[in-house]
Amino acid sequence: MIKSTITNQNINDAIKALKSKKITYTGKNTEIAEKKFEKKFRRYSLLVNSGSSANLLAISLLLNKFRKKRLNVGDEILIPTICWSTSLYPIIQLGLTPKFVDVDSKTLNMSLKDLKLKISKKTKGIFLVHALGNCTDMNELMKIVNKNKIFLIEDTCEALGSKFNKKYLGTFGDVSTFSFFYSHHITSGEGGLITCKTHEDYKILLSLRSHGWSREIDKIKNKKNFQFNSNFKFINLGYNFRITDIQSALLLKQIKNIDLFRKNREQNFKNLNHNIECNSLLKKNLYLPIANKKSNISWFGYAIILNEKISTHRNKLAQYLISNSIEIRPIISGDFTKQPVIKKYLPKYYNSKKFIESKKIDKSGFFITMGSNLYTKKNINKISNLILKYFKKFRIDE
Ligand SMILES: Cc1ncc(COP(=O)(O)O)c(C=O)c1O
Repeated sequence: MIKSTITNQNINDAIKALKSKKITYTGKNTEIAEKKFEKKFRRYSLLVNSGSSANLLAISLLLNKFRKKRLNVGDEILIPTICWSTSLYPIIQLGLTPKFVDVDSKTLNMSLKDLKLKISKKTKGIFLVHALGNCTDMNELMKIVNKNKIFLIEDTCEALGSKFNKKYLGTFGDVSTFSFFYSHHITSGEGGLITCKTHEDYKILLSLRSHGWSREIDKIKNKKNFQFNSNFKFINLGYNFRITDIQSALLLKQIKNIDLFRKNREQNFKNLNHNIECNSLLKKNLYLPIANKKSNISWFGYAIILNEKISTHRNKLAQYLISNSIEIRPIISGDFTKQPVIKKYLPKYYNSKKFIESKKIDKSGFFITMGSNLYTKKNINKISNLILKYFKKFRIDE
């Protein structure tokens, strides 16, 4: 059902990059692709080797000593309970204090109601995760961010191309991250992107992405009188998170399809939602996911959340769909406070009963993956018919 977004032309571009033998990030494709993202999002853009690296860079940037206004070790960062592992880990790894916020089970995204309860004078930032491509009400969220003068990081790894009020997700915060892993909206196999608002941050990121050296910053400054070792001047505590030019070449022509892919994903979602809403048995027994009226969502998946009284069927229904070649996954990682790693690193949150909505999603939900290609009516009907068949088989009634 899901077709890869990689075309023969993309493969030819990658082969050309390989044949040029300029295969590191300094090849021309990386620069061209970054320019395309810059134009699209009107933000400084750097390609990296994964969405996880982009997340680690985002936190490193906001803590960086070269930044005038910055986070300090120990500062509190709010993060939704439905998140990915490497959305949360950089917060812990770099010495900040994460505080979980429950999600809204309709949007699957951070609950503004719970956010307002959790935010305090100690809060210095929000690490927002746009789950399944959807978002919270960004107008309301930005009011909270601006009023409290805190940082906003947008993990847009599942939401490339989604818009709120005609503005792309990933263009609201101080820093935003994207993933080009195989199952994402566009792909280079592995790969990611980090974007930021200011030239100051861009310069810090250039160094952090590449060993902490000054080479790329010197290039912008057009420094001519290089000493023999000026390419090896280390000014910051960096990493090597660079992408290869072969990956950038693979990505290059997919970028122009981001909006088309959103339209396809929106249509796939709409068609499946229509089938479910029009069937009283399905409608009665499922919580239907919703998008904010002001948004256009490039859906990463369609969430199936069973009603409380039939939640025990979740595993069996998921298995049934898999056995019929429907790709499904947990909703990001489910309620992350339930993950074993939390017991070791954030024991006070481990399996906390307080995150009621997340618990519901974790217990009763999964999502059906949506591709960037337009599904046929037959494909969509297959999904809804299979769920219906399962409900009838197990006498799930109206
Ligand atoms: C919300 C979110 N953040 C971050 C990541 C990590 O991206 P990557 O696999 O490119 O490291 C993922 C991966 O699926 C994700 O869903």
